[in-house]
Parts: sequence; structure tokens; C-alpha cells
Amino acid sequence: MNTPLCHTPPMGWNTWNTFSWNINAELIKSSADKMVETGLKDAGYEYIVIDDCWSLKERVNGRLVPDKEKFPDGMKAIADYIHSKGLKFGMYSCAGTHTCGGYPGSFEHEFIDAETFAGWDVDYLKYDYCYKPDCADGANLYKRMGLALRNCGRDIVFSACNWGKDDVHSWIRGTGAQLFRSTGDIQDNWESIKNIVSSQIGTSSTSGVYCHNDMDMLVVGMHGNSDNEWIADVVGGCSDTEYKTHFALWAIMNSALMIGCDIRKMSDATLEILTNKDIIAINQDIECRGPYCIRQWNNPENVFALVKPLSGGELAIGMFNFGDKTNEMSLQFFDIGLPYSSGRGLEMYDCYTHSTVGTFTERMCVQIPSHDCMMYRAKLVRTN
Ligand code: GLA
Repeated sequence: MNTPLCHTPPMGWNTWNTFSWNINAELIKSSADKMVETGLKDAGYEYIVIDDCWSLKERVNGRLVPDKEKFPDGMKAIADYIHSKGLKFGMYSCAGTHTCGGYPGSFEHEFIDAETFAGWDVDYLKYDYCYKPDCADGANLYKRMGLALRNCGRDIVFSACNWGKDDVHSWIRGTGAQLFRSTGDIQDNWESIKNIVSSQIGTSSTSGVYCHNDMDMLVVGMHGNSDNEWIADVVGGCSDTEYKTHFALWAIMNSALMIGCDIRKMSDATLEILTNKDIIAINQDIECRGPYCIRQWNNPENVFALVKPLSGGELAIGMFNFGDKTNEMSLQFFDIGLPYSSGRGLEMYDCYTHSTVGTFTERMCVQIPSHDCMMYRAKLVRTN
């Protein structure tokens, strides 16, 4: 018991983005099957998380009870199935009196609910922030559930979800949470992705080993398919290029990687984005150092690089173009601590072609298509 959990950001799949309230045992089991069959599990995804709308609308004898129509054999049976696939099982509750969907929340029931989840062999709890009584201190409510989970007799990852409110960065580590949502809810459109990224550039120092920033579930591969009209949005989702960039950003910014599309119906392009081993390796680097941002001097709104130190001396370098036409990024190595006078350059390995593209000195200049990105691992080499 009490093994340190989530040294690196957790990876998995969550029901909310695509299915919202429309969930049941068959969906969970078939998604667990697909997690294994498609190779997602081998790529590192391990948590299958049931989000909101799984319970009855009222407690029974003070306990949360699953909706029998959705989960006729109860939650322990789901846990057993997921575990039989070598995966881990996540559930959802809320720090307030009710969940965002209007089901009972864990306010004033934290310890009994942690015990219930442990009894069902749950491995992960997402903990939301709706219907928090005004008189209650949010940080204190997360401390309660953190303490309850750490003492419930089972290792359960605590996934806090207070949407970045109430100065969460300043207190979340103290609650014992392994990850924390730092933004409002994502939508399946490019504007939403851009807004989330813009709000999180500069917060990297608060994310680190055992307590990771969570920029919300991925919309990669949704293409406008969701039972939740607000998430699907009217524009029909994003292009594959935008999903590729979205995934690269979440990876290099050290976010949890929780898939939100229907993994039973992924296109080849979606699977390729989600299983890119070089991008995942950047996200899962053992030191979990957040990136800093270098903006293109003559186009700072649209074009920027994120630079993340990796264990062992390499740098992960992502270059991003948020603009609506092809734009240039000229990364001056001076800005990342490598002056020309050092006699050293960077050998750049491209995470999409999975090959080395060459050694560069002083700067690297690339043309980035609209909404696209480049992702490299850079290795310091002598050049004279
Ligand atoms: C909030 C969370 C979402 C999801 C819903 C469920 O909006 O931020 O991720 O869990 O609640 O109702």
C-alpha cells in the first residue's frame, strides 16, 4: 500500500468527451478490449476512467450506488474485467454536494466514498468542483479527499479537477493529488486548444513529478463526434494536423494524456498520433521538467518554440504555428543557452520521421505550415 503513484503524467481514456451521460458496462468493456487490441496499452495508456453520470441520483444507506441500468453487475465486475486486461480502473466524483451532471457528490461523505471506491478496486478517482458550497474552502475539500484516499487501504490516483480555480497551483501539491486540472473544459475545436495552451504557457514550474498539470482530456480523433453538443461544437472538430499539434502540445507541456475519442472507431491517422512513441517519451521523461517558451521575434502571437530539458542532457524542442498561413520559426540557440562561441551545435532528431535531420549551429530555421508543428529531440554535439 501507499506506493508513490504517477511519477510521470498518467495516460488513459475517459468517457466524458465522447459519451458524457451515455455510458454503460458494454461501452467500458469494449473500450478496454480496444485499448489492448489497438496497441494503445503497449504505447503506455493504462487507465480506463468512467466520468460523471454513473450512479443513482440518490445515495442508499449513505453510500454511492451505481445505476443498475447502466452497470447491471456493479462496479467491482467492471474493475475485474479491466484488471483482467492488464489495465487500471478510474471513477469520478465531486467535491461539491452534486456532480456537474446532478448526481450525488462526495461533500461531507469523503471518507465513506473513498472506502466504497477502494471496495470496488478502483485505481484512480477524478474529483470535480461543481456545487461546492460557498462556505467551504476548496483547497480544504481537496485535502479531505486526498487524505481519505491515502488511507483507504488501496493505491488510488487522485485526479483533482477544479479547473484551475482558486489559485490551485499554490496549494494542490499539499492535497496529495497526482494531477490537477488547470483549465476549463476543452471543446473539439482549434480555438479551444489554442486558448488552453495560451493559459498554460508559463505555469510549467508548478507541474512536476508525482503532481502533474492536466490540460483536460484530449480531443484527438473526435472529429465532431460526441453525444455532448457543447464539446462537439458546431464546426465538426479539428483537422488531423490540428490534432497532431494538440497532442504534441499536451505531451511537451507535461499534461496527463487522457484520450477522449471513441477508441473503438479510430482512424489510422488518429492511432498514429496517439501512439507516436517519440512524442510520448517526451511526455514521460523521468524528470518531468516543464518547458519554457521562446517566441518568434517578428510573429510572437502565432509562432513559438517550447523547450523542455530531458534527463540525460538532451532537449525536447517543439515549434508551433498557430497562424492561418505557413510561418517561419527561427530558433536562436543563444536563447536556449548555447552560444555559437561554445563550438557546439545541436543534432536534431525528428519525432515524426523518427530520424536525425542534421546538426545545426547557431540557429535552426523552419517553415511550419498553418496549425502544424515540428517536434525534435536535440542532442549537444561538438562542431569544431
Ligand atoms: C466538469 C469537468 C468535465 C466533466 C464534467 C462531468 O465539467 O470539468 O471534465 O467531468 O464535469 O459532468
